[in-house]
Amino acid sequence: MKVSAFILSAVLLVFISAPALASGEGSDYRAEMTFTLRTAVAEGKLVYIGQGGEIDGKINPTLAVPENTLVQINMLNGDGALHDVVAEAFDARSDRVSGQGSSSVMIFRTGKAGEFFYWCSVPGHRAAGMQGRIVVGEPRAEAGAKSLDLTHSPMGLPPAIGGRDAGHVNVNLETTEKVGHLADGTRYKFWTFNDQIPGPFVRVRQGDRVTVKLHNDKTSTMIHSVDFHAVTGPGGGAEVTQVAPGKTESFTFRALKPGLYVYHCATPMVAHHITNGMYGLILVEPPGGLPEVDKEFYVMQGELYTAESHGQRGELSFSLEKMLDEQPEYYIFNGATDALTQTHRMEAKVGETVRIFFGVGGPNATSSFHVIGEIFDRVYHEGSLSSEPLKDVQTTTVAPGGATMVEFEVDYPGRYLLVDHALSRMERGLAGFLHVSGEPDHDIFEPHD
Ligand code: CU
Ligand code: CU
Repeated sequence: MKVSAFILSAVLLVFISAPALASGEGSDYRAEMTFTLRTAVAEGKLVYIGQGGEIDGKINPTLAVPENTLVQINMLNGDGALHDVVAEAFDARSDRVSGQGSSSVMIFRTGKAGEFFYWCSVPGHRAAGMQGRIVVGEPRAEAGAKSLDLTHSPMGLPPAIGGRDAGHVNVNLETTEKVGHLADGTRYKFWTFNDQIPGPFVRVRQGDRVTVKLHNDKTSTMIHSVDFHAVTGPGGGAEVTQVAPGKTESFTFRALKPGLYVYHCATPMVAHHITNGMYGLILVEPPGGLPEVDKEFYVMQGELYTAESHGQRGELSFSLEKMLDEQPEYYIFNGATDALTQTHRMEAKVGETVRIFFGVGGPNATSSFHVIGEIFDRVYHEGSLSSEPLKDVQTTTVAPGGATMVEFEVDYPGRYLLVDHALSRMERGLAGFLHVSGEPDHDIFEPHD
């Protein structure tokens, strides 16, 4: 695919350098739409200005093109600085040229409908203003169209096990592959457990025998499976649950050890299945259960490797290359960039004790979990519930395929931000709000005005 695209563009470049392009000879390779952009300084910014046709005179014009169309963009250097034009979504870039009146060209074939960008890749130039949109197909109401919500509510937890005896528990999981909301105007084809990211929060008691039934939806294109880190046995269950579309597999295990554990799909290429959303948490409570708290939340972190760069609209696709290089474009809590800032509202009142079950699906990035403006009173490090918790912790490290349980009393009202303190990731979508209401205690915090 990539190779043939490369050959095609190589052929095109040769072709375009000859005047034959305009003649109609070899029309298979002739651009069906051509735009010309002139670089300039306007209103103190670096920009492209459209030249000719509908875009004439427009600053950073939006280029509207049909699906599956060969597009040529000519860049004229109008200001003499070094510039180029690139459209990463189409793997297209022009040569860099400097000198007033010099020019270069970029060619690509559009695919499916969507909204993409062109920009200048000379360092700093995109930020300085050299960027415009390429809209492919019918201009869709991306922002208005509500795409499928696959996010898991952080409040969606089963009740505590309390004082019950060990018994038998059934866990039914269904694997699906669905296009869902990722960010405003942006969608992605996720793979899920039970149409949710993360998958359902499984809550059992130490000593329980647990029967896991895994059904793979008949519309799936992949085999899926499940590996519970709480399972002692081959592959954590993955060896006996490699399940084809439309089929069901099952197994039973005894929950030997208390703790907070990750589960995930373990079908090769495992990292691909995990990044696409196939992870969740299973809590094995000790006999007698956990201490009571006022609020419990379920949050998981993951990262996505999209072929398109962060911020692009439309339906994004998976990049194997970026995943192998561990270069994510998106970081998400609970399946979308806005799951915990817009879709679901985490709330607590002053004086309440909050518990967060926090896990990292990954597949690769370790989280430095932190709540801005709070101190964790207790951290059950590595999800261990049989060890004494750490006390008074600012930031805790959570490995991919690992989890932690944190507890803290909220003492002062406000909007507290859940983050990974590797804060570049916030710029790629990783944030959550905890809204705390109540009376401010000015002994604890006092703003001066
Ligand atoms: Cu899978
Ligand atoms: Cu694992």
